[in-house]
Amino acid sequence: MDAAGTGKARVVSLIQDVEKSYDDEFQQLVHSLPKEEGWVSGSLYLYQGFWWSSLVLKPMISFQTHFQAFDSDVIVATFPKCGTTWLKALTFSTFYRDRFARDEHPLLASTPHQLVRHLEIDVYINNPCPDLENICVYKPRLLATHVPHASLPTSIKDSKCKIVYICRNPMDMFISLWFFSNKLRDENQESLSLDKVFDKFCRGIHSLGPFFDHVLEYWNASQENPDKILFLKYEDLKEDMNSQLKHLAMFLGVPFTEDEERQGVVEEIAKICSFEKLKELEVNNKGLHTSGIPHKDFFRKGKVGDWSNYLTPSMVERLEKLIQDKLDNSGLTFNFSSKISQDKNIVGFA
Ligand code: A3P
Repeated sequence: MDAAGTGKARVVSLIQDVEKSYDDEFQQLVHSLPKEEGWVSGSLYLYQGFWWSSLVLKPMISFQTHFQAFDSDVIVATFPKCGTTWLKALTFSTFYRDRFARDEHPLLASTPHQLVRHLEIDVYINNPCPDLENICVYKPRLLATHVPHASLPTSIKDSKCKIVYICRNPMDMFISLWFFSNKLRDENQESLSLDKVFDKFCRGIHSLGPFFDHVLEYWNASQENPDKILFLKYEDLKEDMNSQLKHLAMFLGVPFTEDEERQGVVEEIAKICSFEKLKELEVNNKGLHTSGIPHKDFFRKGKVGDWSNYLTPSMVERLEKLIQDKLDNSGLTFNFSSKISQDKNIVGFA
């Protein structure tokens, strides 16, 4: 079986093994929670207002209970399928750029997920009290999470550590999640129909859903405390990477010097982290993430506006209404199409 085939089997069987390994106390907890069918396998449980896959719920609670943040930590926080892989690569390359020679960039040998470890779906997945001393390539620590803002460990919220958050327009995010979930399902499972999962998405029943609650929690927190949380959008990175990177570097406390700008360091970071570059690197085309996901499945199309190839007009109408309801008066807007597709008059907002 190739890596992708093994990966499919790994995710589904990992989820099943995890559910069987729950001790009595945890069984009691999950039995008290609202439950829905997971998109890949196993169940989703509603915990602290968000739907958690049975694979991640326990490690998330370990992370929430035991993690101690340092003031110097940087946390990459994201909603799944909104550009986690990209933001990990960009933040690592920007924050640590003085640690390695330009022609020996760690991204050439390791995946973004190996360089910036994910707390609940990697570090805590097999160990409730992992040794956090040696999990980061460099110091200060750079770590990642999908945990909603309200559920973050208190020490992350109370310390001076910084959070970089990325989100993406919900239409592209949903299509990305649909493809991703189908890839992870076993060969003997039926493919997820777009209709069925679209309805679930709109009702907020998907891993880490509801999407809008997750995004709005971070959005509101970033408005209240912009020195602590930098709120980025996938579409803005696509549109103007250089100014977004300068903003990120400034936020992280490592602004680009004039010399660096003259030498083209900003453009170099943008290039090595680009979808095209990362997708072609051998390291991103082999092997599995700790969660059993084949590394190559984190790269699909990397485009803004791909939703228009899949969503029907009635789906678009339902999502538009939902977006209006949820985001009204929040000040948060999304771009739904790239410049090229806007020229073609494809529906878009803001
Ligand atoms: P698509 O499925 O729309 O192609 P995450 O990293 O949060 O899991 O998000 C995955 C999405 O980001 C996928 O979107 C993937 O192709 C895209 N992606 C991965 N690396 C990227 C990069 N370097 N630049 C832009 N998009 C990237």
